[in-house]
Amino acid sequence: MRHELGRTLLTAEQIAARVAELGAAITADYRGKTLFLACVLRGSAVFWADLCRHIALPTVTDFCAVHSYGDGTDPSGVILLSQDLTLPTTGREVLVVEDIVDTGRTLSLLRAHLLTRQPASLRICALLDKVERRQVPVPLDYVGFTIPNEFVVGYGLDFAQEYRNLPYIATLKAI
Ligand code: IMP
Repeated sequence: MRHELGRTLLTAEQIAARVAELGAAITADYRGKTLFLACVLRGSAVFWADLCRHIALPTVTDFCAVHSYGDGTDPSGVILLSQDLTLPTTGREVLVVEDIVDTGRTLSLLRAHLLTRQPASLRICALLDKVERRQVPVPLDYVGFTIPNEFVVGYGLDFAQEYRNLPYIATLKAI
């Protein structure tokens, strides 16, 4: 099925303002500590790049990658941690930076894995929360926006690896 961009859900200005607020909240909550940012590739790269510059704390960043099979708009069954963090997280204040929480299955798996790496604390910051779609409960400590049950692209989020470079977030519609 072919797709095209639908309506703009979040403008670049709305995203920038909210990311600044998240950075300020994170800065306040972790004051006096060094924060370990765990950026989940690939969709979170743009969000991480903006968010980290609003965090006025010493930070360490590492990247991990989670692959859910299929290029469609419906997340399919198999989720794989295709790249683990490379730095030790034992005793660190770890904050997972995630683009979007849909069913919750990806973050639930990642969270369980990261807890085995014995961080001092483990929190999650997600830019977008499609709360209506949740199948697996996952605790979200920081959320940028709660959005409706629609497939969205832009600001790092893709459809079949396209649209990640859009500076705003839009819906995708079948044509
Ligand atoms: P989960 O269903 O919460 O496990 O989400 C799995 C992954 O599906 C997310 O990390 C995204 O990479 C992707 N995803 C879910 N919803 C969307 C969407 O609306 N646009 C783009 N990617 C999405």
